[in-house]
Amino acid sequence: MPLQRKVVVAKTGEILLGRTKLFAYGTNQGIAYNDGGVIKAYVNRCTHMGGPVELSRDGTSFRCRWHEADFAPATGEAIEGQAPRGTRLQPIVLEEADGQIYAILEFPDDPFA
Ligand code: FES
Repeated sequence: MPLQRKVVVAKTGEILLGRTKLFAYGTNQGIAYNDGGVIKAYVNRCTHMGGPVELSRDGTSFRCRWHEADFAPATGEAIEGQAPRGTRLQPIVLEEADGQIYAILEFPDDPFA
């Protein structure tokens, strides 16, 4: 049975509409986005060569900082540039409780169990 841990993403209401927040997600970085009041999150690793993405200046896409591929913030889907079509940023499962938004981090089976 996989192990699960929760990591804090943000306080409820902290990420404003159309804005992002970066957070630590195990050995990776996560990027959370307020999509019309719904918080979504992805592993911040481009599907081309693994570069980090950030919200574009006009706020309409996530743009990879390495080779400028664009991803749709609402779905994580590659929409422009060198990231292969049909790929998407890996989504992260979120949970809200006690005024906090948590990301669920799953580990493989515990080898010591
Ligand atoms: S690593 Fe993102 S476009 Fe190349």
